[in-house]
Amino acid sequence: MSDLHVVILAAGKGTRMKSARPKVLHNVAGRPMVDYAMAAAKSLTPRTTTVVVGHMKELLRQGLERYPGLSFVTQEPQLGTGHALLQTASVLERETGCVLLLSGDVPLLKGHTLAALVSKHAESKVAATVLTAIVDQPYGYGRIVRTKGRISRIVEERDASPAQRKIHEINSGVYVFSLGPLFDSLRGLATGNAQGEYYLTDLVSTYRRRRLGVETVVVDDPNEIRGINSRSELAEASRIVRQKKNEELMAAGVTIEDPATTYVDDDVVVGADTVIHPGVYLEGRTQIGQACEIHAGVRIVNSVLDDRVTVQNFCVITGSRLASGVTVGPFVHIRPETELRDSVHIGNFVELKKAVLGKGTKAGHHAYLGDAVIGENVNIGAGTITCNYDGSRKHQTTIEDGVFVGTDSQLVAPVTIGKGAYVGSGTTIRENVPAGALAVSAGKQRNIEGWVDKKKQESRKAKVESEK
Ligand code: UD1
Ligand code: CA
Repeated sequence: MSDLHVVILAAGKGTRMKSARPKVLHNVAGRPMVDYAMAAAKSLTPRTTTVVVGHMKELLRQGLERYPGLSFVTQEPQLGTGHALLQTASVLERETGCVLLLSGDVPLLKGHTLAALVSKHAESKVAATVLTAIVDQPYGYGRIVRTKGRISRIVEERDASPAQRKIHEINSGVYVFSLGPLFDSLRGLATGNAQGEYYLTDLVSTYRRRRLGVETVVVDDPNEIRGINSRSELAEASRIVRQKKNEELMAAGVTIEDPATTYVDDDVVVGADTVIHPGVYLEGRTQIGQACEIHAGVRIVNSVLDDRVTVQNFCVITGSRLASGVTVGPFVHIRPETELRDSVHIGNFVELKKAVLGKGTKAGHHAYLGDAVIGENVNIGAGTITCNYDGSRKHQTTIEDGVFVGTDSQLVAPVTIGKGAYVGSGTTIRENVPAGALAVSAGKQRNIEGWVDKKKQESRKAKVESEK
């Protein structure tokens, strides 16, 4: 919208969080709180977006670096929400149009709610429009006082009379203001209230006195306007976001055994008939296909799983691709840039890093495969280690199709094992193995007959000597 300017207030101390990090950078369901306000604002394509910073402003600026086109203004000291908005005069006073004011600590607002607020403001040609909500528990919020049905003022909890405290319509802290009368009126605010602050909310009574129009829009879902002031409100907001995501997935045909303990980030995609057991985390840009089964205690981050993949209990999978029919786990760690092609099987206590495993390949037990390119139908025995690091650099191991690597083998990279070759148990491979060869490095076994009895006699003798 060409004449819309967004302002986000984020200068306050956030005292109740008891944190060394700015409140709005704390995560709600895996994303910084301020991300939500940014996304909702962006959906309206405003002409400018300004963030008011103050408390911990350097940390906040760093946290907001990834959003292009933001202006920052500093509020110092922080004398209240009215004073905070006044600081944007340097950026907005010569502009025309209106300001949509958001708080960085109200993350659940939807873009379409804001769009409805902005269009109501434009249609009714008023000086201010306040987004309100009717809630069961109004405690802590500013109350909307109406006279003959029209909003006449907003009174803060601490300044409210017992009768006003009973009002269930509350101020969301989200407003649209026409720029025309805004900054002059903000300069006229006073601090005669319980907190001695310049309250933005006092603009409502100022405007009504000056016969400037003030409108309200009541939000449909009061959850949208929840403000986050404490860790417990943070947890509650996360729960609401997660619950909604889980509902969407279930509606699309995903079985979630226990939604209360299933944590799925917003951008994650899951196909129908996939079953998710309790205590699962699906994070970032993870995509999971159809008819997969993700067992309890699994964490999958920024990874792609095709159809019919099974992940047994307690696996961590990060930045990797698992093709159809792959089975992994339990207790498997798949680190970034790993690719498991069709029907690969990875069993317990295997760690993979930057490893490509071809179709049908198996690593069933206790192995480390890093910086490795492994062909199709390879068998990796228990205890196989790719020795990929020489203390300063990483080197690649190549294992061609159909190779059999016996248990407890070390493959010292860079090394290639040719097609169909065998590596005997307990071999240390330091040189390439030609296709079809058997490689063994351990020396011939020696048996020393009677060694145990001899050893026992010796130690008995030693004991007698020492007790003399
Ligand atoms: C505010 C409203 C209240 C409303 C509630 C909704 C006022 C006086 N009260 O109360 O009516 O029901 O939001 O959540 O506006 N901030 C600054 N500079 C300051 C003070 C605050 O930038 O000097 C920022 C904060 O960082 C925060 C926002 O303004 O993002 C709201 O401030 P907060 O102190 O949380 O106000 P509430 O007491 O929640
Ligand atoms: Ca607040």
